[in-house]
Amino acid sequence: MEMQRISVFVVLFHLAGAAIGDDFHEQLGHIRPQVSKEDQSKAALDAIKRILKERSAEFSVDVNPDQGGIGKDYFKINKQEGIIKISGTSGVAVLTGLNYYLKYVCEAHISWEASQLDLPKELPEVNITVTLIDRFRYYQNVCTTSYSFVWWNWQQWEKHIDWMALNSFNLVLAFNGQEAIWERVYKNLNLTQADIDEHFTGPAFLSWLRMGNIRGWGGPLSRAWHERSIWLQKKILQRMRSLGIIPVLPAFAGHLPRAFQRIYPQVNMTRMEQWNHFNDTYCCPYFLDPTEDLFKAIGKMFIEEQMAEFGTDHIYNCDSFNEVDPSTSDLSYLSNVGKSIYSAMTDADPKAIWIMQGWLFYSSEYWRDPEKVETFITSVPRGKMIILDLQSEQFPQYQRLQQYFGQPYIWCMLHDFGGTLGMFGSVSIINENVIKARNEPNSTMIGTGLTPEGINQNYVVYDLMTESAWRSEPSNLTSWFRNYTIRRYGRYNENITKAWDLLRGSVYDYSGIFKLRGKYAITNTPSLKLNIWTWYNYSDVYEAWDLFIASADEFIDSPAFLHDLVDLTRQVLQIAGDVYYEKLLGYFRGKNIQAFEDTSSRFLNIFLDLDLILSTNKDFLLGPWLEAAKACANDTKEAELFEYNARNQITLWGPHGEIINYANKQWSGVVSHYFQPRWALFINRMDISLHTKTRFNESLVKQEMFERVEEPFTFDRGLFPTEPTGDPVGIAKEIHSRWSNLILMLSSKSARNKNRKQRSSEERTAEPYFEDMEPKVIVLG
Ligand SMILES: *[C@@H]1O[C@H](CO)[C@@H](O)[C@H](O)[C@H]1NC(C)=O
Ligand SMILES: *[C@@H]1O[C@H](CO)[C@@H](O)[C@H](O)[C@H]1NC(C)=O
Ligand SMILES: *[C@@H]1O[C@H](CO)[C@@H](O)[C@H](O)[C@H]1NC(C)=O
Ligand SMILES: *[C@@H]1O[C@H](CO)[C@@H](O)[C@H](O)[C@H]1NC(C)=O
Ligand SMILES: *[C@@H]1O[C@H](CO)[C@@H](O)[C@H](O)[C@H]1NC(C)=O
Ligand SMILES: *[C@@H]1O[C@H](CO)[C@@H](O)[C@H](O)[C@H]1NC(C)=O
Ligand SMILES: *[C@@H]1O[C@H](CO)[C@@H](O)[C@H](O)[C@H]1NC(C)=O
Ligand SMILES: *[C@@H]1O[C@H](CO)[C@@H](O)[C@H](O)[C@H]1NC(C)=O
Ligand SMILES: *[C@@H]1O[C@H](CO)[C@@H](O)[C@H](O)[C@H]1NC(C)=O
Ligand SMILES: *[C@@H]1O[C@H](CO)[C@@H](O)[C@H](O)[C@H]1NC(C)=O
Ligand SMILES: *[C@@H]1O[C@H](CO)[C@@H](O)[C@H](O)[C@H]1NC(C)=O
Repeated sequence: MEMQRISVFVVLFHLAGAAIGDDFHEQLGHIRPQVSKEDQSKAALDAIKRILKERSAEFSVDVNPDQGGIGKDYFKINKQEGIIKISGTSGVAVLTGLNYYLKYVCEAHISWEASQLDLPKELPEVNITVTLIDRFRYYQNVCTTSYSFVWWNWQQWEKHIDWMALNSFNLVLAFNGQEAIWERVYKNLNLTQADIDEHFTGPAFLSWLRMGNIRGWGGPLSRAWHERSIWLQKKILQRMRSLGIIPVLPAFAGHLPRAFQRIYPQVNMTRMEQWNHFNDTYCCPYFLDPTEDLFKAIGKMFIEEQMAEFGTDHIYNCDSFNEVDPSTSDLSYLSNVGKSIYSAMTDADPKAIWIMQGWLFYSSEYWRDPEKVETFITSVPRGKMIILDLQSEQFPQYQRLQQYFGQPYIWCMLHDFGGTLGMFGSVSIINENVIKARNEPNSTMIGTGLTPEGINQNYVVYDLMTESAWRSEPSNLTSWFRNYTIRRYGRYNENITKAWDLLRGSVYDYSGIFKLRGKYAITNTPSLKLNIWTWYNYSDVYEAWDLFIASADEFIDSPAFLHDLVDLTRQVLQIAGDVYYEKLLGYFRGKNIQAFEDTSSRFLNIFLDLDLILSTNKDFLLGPWLEAAKACANDTKEAELFEYNARNQITLWGPHGEIINYANKQWSGVVSHYFQPRWALFINRMDISLHTKTRFNESLVKQEMFERVEEPFTFDRGLFPTEPTGDPVGIAKEIHSRWSNLILMLSSKSARNKNRKQRSSEERTAEPYFEDMEPKVIVLG
C-alpha cells in the first residue's frame, strides 16, 4: 500500500447550534469522566495493546481533559521520532483518534465481526486535529442488552467496550446487575422470595420486565445469576469509567411486582395493560403512580442501593411510559408526574440528570398533542433531562416537538428491531439529516447516538453513522463506500467497489416510512397472506452477488469479505424466498398441482442452501448463542432454563408465540430446524388440499406448526455446531450456479413495489408486511 504524507489540520466548529448547545454546559458540565488523566491514559494504552498487539509499541497517548472549556472532546495525532502520538481530552477521545488514524491514514478497519489491521510497515506521517462536534455520543437501546449482550462473558464485553471507545461513544447504558439491586430493595420492603421469583423474567427477557411489559416469563433468576451480573457490571463500569465513558444507570420508573398490592393495599397502583397478548401469569405488573409518596421513597432507595454497589456518574435512564399511557390527560397531573420522577432521583443524588427514550412521543397516540409533551418534559428544569430522539432516521420528533421545547436531545439511529438480519439501511438520510438537525435554528441537539435493539448486522450503516461525531458536511457516499470497501477488505477491487455501489443505491438507501422488521417469506410464519414488499430493485442485489462471486477467489484471506460473501448470498436467498413464495401462491390459487409441486420443491431447496452457506461462517451459527446461554448457568437445571430462554426469544418470543418472529435470526440451525420444517409442513398441507380438493384451513395448520415445529424447537436440547464448516467461497459459487439463472428468470420484474397502487399515507404508516398479521404486534423501542 502506497502511503502519502498526510498533513491536514481540521477544526470543526459547531456552527448554528453552538450558542444553544453550549447553554447546557452549566447543567451538564458535571457529566464528564471522573477518572484521572493518568488512569485514562493507561486505560487507553492498554486498549491499544489489545487492539494492535506488537504494533502498539509505535503509539503513545496523552490524555488532557479540557478543564473549564466548552466540554467538547478533540484529539490530535502526529508523528514524532517514529512514534504516533495521540493526545485527546479523554481515553475515548484518544481511542477515537486511533481509529481515525487507522481508518483514514492506514486504511485499516475494525468491526464487530472482523478486522483488517494490515498496517504499513512504516506508520505514515500525520498531523491532524479533530474536534468532536457534539458533547455526547450515546450508545444502546434498552433492548440491546437482551437481544445482543444477554449471554456475553467478560472477554466479549471487553472487546466491545474497546469498540465503543474507538467509535467515540462517551455516554453508554450499563444495565447489568440491576435485578440484584432490586431484589435487595424488595426484600427491605418485605417482599418474600416467592413474590420476587414470580416477578423476575429470565435473562433473555429482562428488557421488557424493566419496562413493565411482562413479568415472570422465562424466570426466575438465581442467586448465582445475580452474583454473576454484579461481578460483570462492576468490571464493565470500571473499564468504561477508566476509558472516560460515562455509564448511564437505571432509575425507578414505577413498575412493581404484583405483591406490592398486598403489602401496600392503601396505595394507588394501577395494573399495566396487557402487552402483546401475554396472559395474566406473565403480564401486567403494577404501576405505581409517580405522584405517590411511596414512589419517591422506592426511587430513592433504589438509587441509594445502586450507588452503594456501583457508584454513580449522575445520569439515569428512566422510561415510565414506554407503551403504557398516563391514566389521565390532565396537564397538571403530567407536570406533577415529571417532577416526582425527577425528584425521586435527586433525593438520592442531587446532581442527577434524567435521560429518557423519546419513543413514546412517536409510538403513542396519547402524546400526539404537543402540549402534553411540553408540559411533561418541561416540568424538569431545563437541561436536567436529555431526550433520545430514538429513531431519527425514520421517525424524527425533534421538529414536531419544537426542539423538545428547549430540553436537550440526542439524534439517534435505531436502525434494527429485534436484532434481525437482512440488508438494509438509510445511508442518505443519516448522511444528511444529522447535520441539518444540528444546524437548525435554536437546535437543542447535544449529541448523536446509536440505539439499535440488536447489533451484529449491516455494519456499514453503523460505521457511517458513528462518523457523524465529526462530520460537518455530508460525505460523497459513492466515494465513502468505495473507501469502506478498501479498508474492510484491505485492497481495492473494481468488481467489489461496483458491488457495494449497487448495494449502496438499493438495500442501503431506504427512505420510506414502512416499518422494516426483518420479516421475509422464509423467516415469517407460513401463511397464504404474506404481503411481499420491498423498496429496492432485486436486480441490483443479484448483480452485486455476481460481482462478489466473480472476484471471490482474490479475497479468501479476508475474514470480512468472507463474512460479507455469506451475508450477500443469504440476502439473495432471502429474496429468492420472497419471489418463489409469490409463484407458489399463484400456482396454489390456480390449482396448478404440477407447477405447485415443482415450485415448492425449489422453494424448500432455498432453505437447504441457506443453511449450508450460513454454516460456513461463525457469525451465522445458532450453536454459539445456545452454548453461551448455557455457559452463564451455574447448574444443569439453570442451563436448561437459559437454553430455553435463548431458543424462545429468537422464535416464539413468549409461550404461545406472543410476538413470534420479532427477533428471528437467519442462522444455520434456525433455518434447518425451524424455518424449513415450518414451511415443509405448511406446503405439505397445501399440497394435500390441492389433491383432495378440500379447503385449506390456515389456522388449523398454524396450530399444527406450533405443536409440531415451533414449540418443540424451543424445548429441544439438541446440540448445534459452534464452529463453521465448509468452504464459503466454494459453497457460494455452487449456490450461485444453482440459482442465478432461475432467480433472474423469475424476478425479471424490477422493484416489487413498482406496480403497487399508491396507498393513502395513513395506511402507509401501518405495519407493511402482513396486512392481517395476527396477533397484532405492538412494536417497542
Ligand atoms: C501541524 O499542523 C499545524 C496546523 O496546520 C501546524 O501549525 C504545525 O506546524 C504542523 N506541524 C507539523 C510538524 O507539520
Ligand atoms: C416490614 O416488616 C417489618 C416486620 O414485620 C415491619 O416492622 C416493617 O414496618 C415492614 N416494612 C415495610 C416497609 O412494610
Ligand atoms: C452453584 O452451584 C453449586 C452446585 O450446584 C452450588 O453449590 C452453589 O451454591 C451454586 N452457587 C450459587 C451462587 O448459587
Ligand atoms: C389514583 O391515581 C389516579 C391517577 O393516576 C387518580 O385519577 C385517582 O384519583 C387516584 N386514586 C386515589 C384513590 O388516589
Ligand atoms: C398462561 O400461559 C401459560 C403457558 O401456557 C400457562 O401455563 C398459564 O396457565 C397461563 N395463565 C393463564 C392465567 O391463563
Ligand atoms: C429561536 O430563538 C430566538 C431567540 O430566542 C427566537 O426569536 C426565534 O423565534 C427562535 N426561532 C425558532 C425557529 O424557534
Ligand atoms: C463522488 O465521488 C465519486 C467517486 O470518487 C465521483 O465519481 C463523483 O464525481 C463524486 N461526486 C460528487 C458530487 O462530487
Ligand atoms: C476516500 O479516500 C480518498 C483517498 O484517501 C479521499 O481523498 C476521499 O476524500 C475519501 N472519501 C471520503 C468520502 O471520505
Ligand atoms: C429499478 O430499476 C428500474 C430500471 O432500471 C428503474 O427505472 C427504477 O427507478 C429502479 N427502482 C428503484 C427503486 O431503484
Ligand atoms: C471482475 O469480474 C469479471 C467477471 O465479471 C472478471 O472477469 C474479472 O477478473 C474480475 N476482476 C477482478 C479485478 O476481480
Ligand atoms: C379450521 O380449524 C379450526 C381449528 O383450528 C376450526 O376451529 C375451524 O372450524 C376450522 N375452519 C373450517 C372452515 O373448517
